[in-house]
Amino acid sequence: MSLLEKINNNKTPSHIAIIMDGNGRWAKQRGKDRAYGHQEGVVAVRRVVEAAAKADVDFLTVYAFSTENWNRPDEEVDALMELMVYSIVKETPDLIKQGVRLALIGDYNRLPLKAKDALDKSLKETANGTKITLILALSYSSKWEITEALKQITHDIKEKQLTSEEINEETFSNYLSTKGIPDPDLLIRTGGEKRISNFLLWQLAYAELYFTDTYWPDFDKEHLYKAILDFQCRERRFGKTSEQIKKEKL
Ligand code: FPP
Repeated sequence: MSLLEKINNNKTPSHIAIIMDGNGRWAKQRGKDRAYGHQEGVVAVRRVVEAAAKADVDFLTVYAFSTENWNRPDEEVDALMELMVYSIVKETPDLIKQGVRLALIGDYNRLPLKAKDALDKSLKETANGTKITLILALSYSSKWEITEALKQITHDIKEKQLTSEEINEETFSNYLSTKGIPDPDLLIRTGGEKRISNFLLWQLAYAELYFTDTYWPDFDKEHLYKAILDFQCRERRFGKTSEQIKKEKL
């Protein structure tokens, strides 16, 4: 029985978020430069999107470039942006074929014009995809996103489009860049570190966390299915007791 066949279709995580870490170390191990690790990282993204779609995951969010990544050496930032543009242009026809809808979260305005153009085109061309939504977190950080939400809320209150009484968890969520997207059920981080790194802090409130030492370029469909199977063994209590959860299932 394959790992995919072992997955319980009634308990598939609807939304998986991934912190793709370890590209640089993977390349170093092979005596190559970091850019090579990122190139192989793109191959892994392709593999994992396909595998997630096969497992009937609805949303896959990948942390492709954080706000903090702008502080990396200029040549690495440039290489990553170029790789992004090249990959989006190259992969879009295949994304369309696979029924992948592309979406974006992050500070779009900070991206270079070439990246914006490639993304705009791909967002438009993949808009009708219904198999899976691939959300690229680009120039994204949670603290940035929450700060922007607060600025917009303050603005809307000032303009009388919102009252402070109307602010609750739901209305606040609607001010985040993930508006309309269900919160991740499962967060996977590759590369051995055990931290969240400013990623979806609000949205991950009740996600199950899965850490693996595997470097991102080595992460394949079997690794994904292992993570999903591990997720399916967890009891998600959302603050309730185990007894309450068991009763609800009856
Ligand atoms: C972390 O590894 C990875 C990144 C900062 C970039 C990830 C980007 C990609 C895989 C490209 C994605 C592109 C598209 C189009 C989706 P690291 O460099 O921090 O590795 P290290 O921790 O080993 O140094």
